[in-house]
Amino acid sequence: MATKSRCMWVSQDDAGAISCHPSEFEWPDLPEGHVRIRVHYSSLNYKDALAASGHPGVVRQLPIIPGIDAAGEVLQGGTSGLAEGASVMVAHAEFGTQVHGGYSEIVQVPSGWVFPLPENLSPRDAMAIGTAGFTAAQSVDELQRHSVWPDQGPVVVTGATGGVGVFAVKLLAKLGFEVHAVTGKADKAGWLKSNGAAEILTRADVDDTSDRPLLSSRWAGAVDTVGGNMLATVLRGAKPFSCVTACGLVAGHELNLTVYPFILRGVTLQGVDTANIPVERRREIWQRIATDWSFDNLDALVTEVDLDGLGGAIESILQGQVAGRVVVRI
Ligand SMILES: NC(=O)c1ccc[n+]([C@@H]2O[C@H](COP(=O)([O-])OP(=O)(O)OC[C@H]3O[C@@H](n4cnc5c(N)ncnc54)[C@H](OP(=O)(O)O)[C@@H]3O)[C@@H](O)[C@H]2O)c1
Repeated sequence: MATKSRCMWVSQDDAGAISCHPSEFEWPDLPEGHVRIRVHYSSLNYKDALAASGHPGVVRQLPIIPGIDAAGEVLQGGTSGLAEGASVMVAHAEFGTQVHGGYSEIVQVPSGWVFPLPENLSPRDAMAIGTAGFTAAQSVDELQRHSVWPDQGPVVVTGATGGVGVFAVKLLAKLGFEVHAVTGKADKAGWLKSNGAAEILTRADVDDTSDRPLLSSRWAGAVDTVGGNMLATVLRGAKPFSCVTACGLVAGHELNLTVYPFILRGVTLQGVDTANIPVERRREIWQRIATDWSFDNLDALVTEVDLDGLGGAIESILQGQVAGRVVVRI
C-alpha cells in the first residue's frame, strides 16, 4: 500500500539552484525483495551535508532524500524474514546518495541493506554512533590488523572533534593507546581530554609545508579523517612499520608526498571505505561496538535535532563547527 511520510527533500529548480527543506514523499507499494521501515533516528555525517548540498561527487541524481544512516522498526518485512516490529539498521553505499535515505519517517530498501540492531544498542545509540563511529571502529580495526599496539608509541587522530575523530580518540584511549588529538578548536581541548586524548595538537602542528620527504618519526599509528597536507604530514612523521588509515577529505583530496615513508620506514597507508565493506565484516565490527568496544557516555557527544532543525546543523558541519555527533530524531 502506498503511504506518505515527512522527509528532508533535496531538489534542483529549472535555474539549477539546489534547495534542501522538509517536505512530504509518497512511497509506492513495497517492491518485491524490499523492506519498509519506520525510521526512529538518523544521524548527520559530513557526507550527508555534501548530499544535502547536491554535491555531484556524492549524489548522482536529484531530487533525493539524504541520510546515510537510519535505525528503526520493520513495518513490512516482505520476503526478508524480518519480523514486523524488529529493531533494525540500514547501511549501504547507495542509501542516502542514490536511493532515498534516512531523513524520512519511512524508508523502503532492498532487504540485503537491512540488518538487526545488535542487542544492547537502542536505535538512538546506534545513530549516535552511526557511520562516524563505525568508521572510527573500522579504522582502529585496521590498525590492529597491521599490528599497531599501545606499547609501540603514541597514535594521532586528525579532525579530532569531528564525528569520526572523537570516536577514534575514545576507542583508542579505551584500548590503552596514548592518543594525540589534532584539532582546529582550541576551546575543545578539555572536552577532547575528557574523551581520552593525552595530548592536544593544533592543525598547524601537523601541517608541515617544508619539502622534507621525511620528518622526525613520532607516531606508531594514525587515524586520519581530513586528508590533504595533514595526511601527508602524518605519513612523513610516522614511525617505522606504523600504519596510517585514511578515510576523509575535509582538508583536501590531494596527497602530495614521496615514496620515502613507504620504502625507508615501511609505513602502511590503509584506506578505509565503510560504504563497500563486506556485510560480514560490517556485522562483526558492529558486534564489537556493541560489546567490548562499547562507547560509554554517548549522550555527552550528542546534539539532537529534528527535521526542522536539520538545515542549521548541515550548515554547521559544512563549516567544520560541529563537535561530536548530531542525531536526527525523525
Ligand atoms: N571513507 C569512508 O567510508 C568515510 C566514512 C565516514 C566519513 N568519511 C569522511 O571522513 C571525514 C570526517 O567525517 P565526519 O563525519 O567526522 O565529519 P565532521 O564531523 O565534519 O568532522 C570533520 C572534522 O575535521 C576537522 N576539519 C574541518 N575542516 C578542516 C580543515 N580544513 N583542515 C583540517 N581539519 C578540518 C574538524 O575537526 P577539528 O576542528 O577538531 O580539527 C571537523 O570537525 C569526512 O571527509 C567524511 O566524508 C569517510
